Amino acid sequence: MNDDIASPGRKLMARLDEFARFSDEEGRLTRLYLSNAHRQAAQQYVAWCREIGLAAGIDASGNVWARYEGKQPGAPALMIGSHIDTVRDAGKYDGNLGALAALAVVEELAKKGERLDIAVEIVAFGDEEGVRFPTTLTGSRAFAGLFARSSLDQKDADGISMREALTNFGCEPEAVATLRGRNVAAFVELHIEQGPVLEAENLPVGIVTAINGATRFHCTLRGLAGHAGATPMNLRQDALTAAAEMILMIEARARSENDLVATVGRLEVEPGAVNVIPGEARFTIDMRAPRDAQRQRAVNDIDKQLIAIAKARNVELISVHTHEAGAYICDPRIVAGLKAAVERIGKPARLLPSGAGHDTMIMGQLCPAGMLFVRCKGGVSHNPLESITVEDCEIGFAALMEFVRGFKAAT
Ligand code: GLV
Ligand code: MN
Ligand code: MN
Repeated sequence: MNDDIASPGRKLMARLDEFARFSDEEGRLTRLYLSNAHRQAAQQYVAWCREIGLAAGIDASGNVWARYEGKQPGAPALMIGSHIDTVRDAGKYDGNLGALAALAVVEELAKKGERLDIAVEIVAFGDEEGVRFPTTLTGSRAFAGLFARSSLDQKDADGISMREALTNFGCEPEAVATLRGRNVAAFVELHIEQGPVLEAENLPVGIVTAINGATRFHCTLRGLAGHAGATPMNLRQDALTAAAEMILMIEARARSENDLVATVGRLEVEPGAVNVIPGEARFTIDMRAPRDAQRQRAVNDIDKQLIAIAKARNVELISVHTHEAGAYICDPRIVAGLKAAVERIGKPARLLPSGAGHDTMIMGQLCPAGMLFVRCKGGVSHNPLESITVEDCEIGFAALMEFVRGFKAAT
């Protein structure tokens, strides 16, 4: 292993530590789309690009993008990168690893004055997580020309619309729907695994074959707030107990089939007092499966059950469908190229599916796309305990570099 202090893997780890200081919350890493921390992180990314002579820009949706020309100006590009937004109380590596690794790849080429047959474009997408606004994967959707203009009217928890947030960020909201990457031959994303398979098999990296599809809903239940002492149990319209029954039903449905997962990650209750029957409950649903038909069946079943429970408990149900992403089968040529690159650097090439969603599933609608995973400790992610080793980072970077150097655009 390269233990040179200035090796790209070590430098990348140091940068990831440094980058984690851009947070919207003191003492923990939270970097939501179009927030101050996102702006600072994007500006830092631009500054790092400039240090290596790349003219980086921030596009209309807040993505940072830069191009390293190939031997012939205007050649098709291999695009590499990932996202720099995070969940609340996040780890340092989800998304950031791939975004900063892309920069490190170009830095390595620039340092050696090495030009490839293709151009290399790097990207730090602004929203993959979908934590701030109901919509998700906004950065890659915009880049792939798949942004729905209606998303501009979506609001965050403070009532700020995406349109306003984009304007405050210095972006042009009306231009987001007209973005579309041009002349992109392929997209490849380096990312932590966020699951336990590589660690269990003692492997540093893996090649992704397919990415789970996902569906999300925001549900609001309206019952009747009332006196906790004076209202008999049979006369209540308790929004929270209705939500509780729904949440357990969702869990049971997901448990009934292999590979299907469902999560209620947010629950808010109003008015939230010890002696008041909850009059309103709001919760989110996130459902994933490797096969679209399987996910769709579960979505339909859950939808029917939500309606039945709301009826039986005499509460109003408003369910808003906020996100849909079909499962993505990674491009076979990219999978083969990544496999060969991992083998060339002398590591076993383990193929595995991804349970988590990624920008790759959207970029795959623009161009052939694929992913390389790096082992993460305990498979833990979306958690400050997220951890990777310098050695694995080095191997992940080396495999990506090897892939980039060997990539040939289809003719
Ligand atoms: C992104 O991390 C997602 O899969 O929700
Ligand atoms: Mn991610
Ligand atoms: Mn994530």
